[in-house]
Amino acid sequence: MDQLLAGLRAAGEPTRLRLLTLCARAELTVTELTQILRQSQPRVSRHLKLLVEAGLLSRFREGQWAFYRIANGSDGPQLNRAIVDLVPENDPMYLRDLERLEEIKEARAEAAAAYFRENAPRWDEIRSMYVPEAEVEACVRDLIADGEVADLLDIGTGTGRILEVMASQIRSGVGIDLSHEMLAVARVNLGKPGLEHCQVRHGDMYELPFGDASQDAVIFHQVLHYAEEPEAAITEAARVLRPDGSLIVIDFAPHKQRVLIEEHAHHRLGLADEELAAWCENADLKSSLAQELKGDPLTVNIWLASRESSNLTSSNSERASTVAAN
Ligand SMILES: C[S@@+](CC[C@H](N)C(=O)[O-])C[C@H]1O[C@@H](n2cnc3c(N)ncnc32)[C@H](O)[C@@H]1O
Repeated sequence: MDQLLAGLRAAGEPTRLRLLTLCARAELTVTELTQILRQSQPRVSRHLKLLVEAGLLSRFREGQWAFYRIANGSDGPQLNRAIVDLVPENDPMYLRDLERLEEIKEARAEAAAAYFRENAPRWDEIRSMYVPEAEVEACVRDLIADGEVADLLDIGTGTGRILEVMASQIRSGVGIDLSHEMLAVARVNLGKPGLEHCQVRHGDMYELPFGDASQDAVIFHQVLHYAEEPEAAITEAARVLRPDGSLIVIDFAPHKQRVLIEEHAHHRLGLADEELAAWCENADLKSSLAQELKGDPLTVNIWLASRESSNLTSSNSERASTVAAN
C-alpha cells in the first residue's frame, strides 16, 4: 500500500506525469527532456529524481549521458504503465510533447545516418563476401520457437538488427555493445513501433551487466571474430544463461581473407568448429553446428549450445538438425 501511494503521489503532478509518459515511449536524457518540456534543467532533474525514487522510472548511465526510461518491475501489473495507459491520447499537451519527441528522434536518426554514411562502404565490402544477411537471419529465427525465449541478450548488438529480427518471438530483448556510436544507431532502429520491449545498454562482453542465470538465450552475431579472448566471452555468456537456456553463435568459418584483419579490425580468421566446441565445453555447454551457409569466399556458420542437462537441449538439437537438413 505504501509503495502504491508513493507511486501515485509521484505521478500526481503535471510535469512528472508528462515525464513518465515520455519515458514510456523512449529512453531520454535530461537535456532531451528539457527540450521537450521547455522547462529548466534543474527543475526537470528534480522531478526525474522523484520519479526514480518512487520506482516509476529507472536511470542508467551511458558514457557522459544519463538516460531515463520507464522502470520494468517484476511480473504482474505495473503502476507506471497503468498510469501511462490512462493519459488521454487527444490531450493537447500530450500531443505537443509527442511532436517534440518526434523531433528529438529525427535529430538522433540524422546523427546515426551520418555515422552510417561514413562507415557503410566498409561494411558493404564485407557483406559482399557471404550469403545475403536475410538468409542468415531467417535461420536464426528458425532456431528459436515462438514463446520459448522470454529474455534474449544480444551481445555486440551493433545496429540492434538481431533484436529487430527476433522481436516478435521474445518477451524482452537487451543488446549490449562497447561502442557508443553503435548504441546510438541501435537506439534509433529500436525506436520503431512494436519494439518497445527491446533495449540497448552500454556493456562489455567480458563483464556482462546482468546477474547469473538471468537470460533464456544469448546471441553473438558476427562478434566473436573481434574477440581477443573468445573463450572468456563464452564463459561470461554461459554465466548469465538460465539452466535450460541456449547460446547461439553466428560467425565465419575459418577463412583466408587477411584483409579482414588488416583493414577491418577482425582478430581472427573465422572460428573452427572444434575450437568453438572446446570453449563451450569449458563453459559447461555442449555445442552443435546448426547451419553452414556457404558463400564465396566466406561461409557463415551458426552454432547452438546449451547445458547437457537442459530440457531444451534435445528440442534445440532436433531443431538444429532440421535447420541443417533444410
Ligand atoms: C560486426 S559488429 C556486429 C553487430 C551485430 N551483432 C550485427 O551482426 O549486426 C560487432 C559489434 O561488436 C561490438 N563489440 C566489439 N567488442 C565488444 C565488447 N568487448 N563488448 C561488447 N561489444 C563489443 C562492436 O562495437 C560492434 O558493434
